[in-house]
Amino acid sequence: MSNFFYKDGVLFCEDVPVSDIALKYGTPSYVYSKKTLEDNFDAYSNSFIENEGMVCFSVKSLSNISILRLLSEKGSGFDIVSGGELERVIVAGADPKKIIFTGIAKTNAEIIQGIKKDILSFNIESESEMLRIERIAKKEKTIVDVTIRFNPEIDSGGHEYIKTGRKKDKFGILLDGVLKLSKYISSSDSLNLIGLSCHIGSQIFDLNDFKESAKYIKKLAREINNTGIELKFLDIGGGLGISYTESDFPFPGDLVKDIKKELNDRNEKIILEPGRSISGNAGIMLTSVEYIKGKYLIVDAGMNDLIRPALYGAKHDVINVKKGKSKANNWTIVGPICESSDVLAKDYLLEASEGDVLAVKTAGAYGHVMSSNYNSRRKPPEILVDGNKFKVIRKRESYDDLIKNEVNIESEF
Ligand code: LLP
Repeated sequence: MSNFFYKDGVLFCEDVPVSDIALKYGTPSYVYSKKTLEDNFDAYSNSFIENEGMVCFSVKSLSNISILRLLSEKGSGFDIVSGGELERVIVAGADPKKIIFTGIAKTNAEIIQGIKKDILSFNIESESEMLRIERIAKKEKTIVDVTIRFNPEIDSGGHEYIKTGRKKDKFGILLDGVLKLSKYISSSDSLNLIGLSCHIGSQIFDLNDFKESAKYIKKLAREINNTGIELKFLDIGGGLGISYTESDFPFPGDLVKDIKKELNDRNEKIILEPGRSISGNAGIMLTSVEYIKGKYLIVDAGMNDLIRPALYGAKHDVINVKKGKSKANNWTIVGPICESSDVLAKDYLLEASEGDVLAVKTAGAYGHVMSSNYNSRRKPPEILVDGNKFKVIRKRESYDDLIKNEVNIESEF
């Protein structure tokens, strides 16, 4: 059951009327339900028995340190893609041996940072990267555990921009190159191959695509075993789709069941890297109606606060936090940014009048993390609800924050 619901026409997050949050912390703002985050995590982790699998939450979808901490306390591992994400998860108390470092452009500094923190594994995405990690490992006089991220050549994912597993995509090692790398690694004194991984895309609804990935990973694992190398884990990545406006969507438990079935003759631990399916429906963005101008409902949140509609044409449901007070109309909901793409929803039936607070649903994933300061707007606050309590877990930026890293040249050079 969703933890965002109407009671007597008033929208609640768990036991808190969200209008109370808007009153206290203003809009735009992001609100998350702790219970939804926990339930979504449990839906994955409870589907595994004991050490059969590990959930590595994809930090890029929602990276607030309080949220990472609560997931870490529930036993989550983390999929990270930058030195910044590594810092965050460490600050949030993550177990380094549950951190996987993915990404095609890891810098020297990031590789050293990961080695120093003694993370579980680096996902190697190219031959050059493998050689670079080996060089650094030699210099640091250590042996680094690595995983090969392969590209299974599967066309999957909700939007062209979020597909990652096709031959033409920039991610992973093509299937025919995996064995060459694994042989090289096995002969290296500084690298240790511990797993295989893949990630085919995001907002995937067809579980068959994951089954296909599992088939490939199994085949590759067998081939690698035949060269005398034992692996510790097989990582199927993230990408499970969630409901934005769709009524039919897949469940984490079914995904885990299918993957376990496909890999039932393997001994390696299964790793999954879900992001959106843990954080997506756990968050909403609150925004207020500033003005009405003909068909335009002008709100105080812009594409800088939530870029998904402008970037991917993504559809998010928008609802009034108080039902039955305003007249319904077909609106084009737009934000304050000076771009015509700053449209939250088009031709959208909604009860609204000036001053009303609206909730943009399913904004927990790729919401705040993708916000920017465009038009010199301050990034919104993040608020976490736990039962009948709520707390700011990230403050609204101040005008000082906006310019704190800039140098004001007052005198001549
Ligand atoms: N693992 C890897 C290696 C990834 O690149 C991603 C997401 C995930 C896991 C998590 O995928 P998820 O379970 O969240 O689908 N900004 C886009 C989504 C980009 C996804 C990038 N990679 C959006 O707003 O739809």
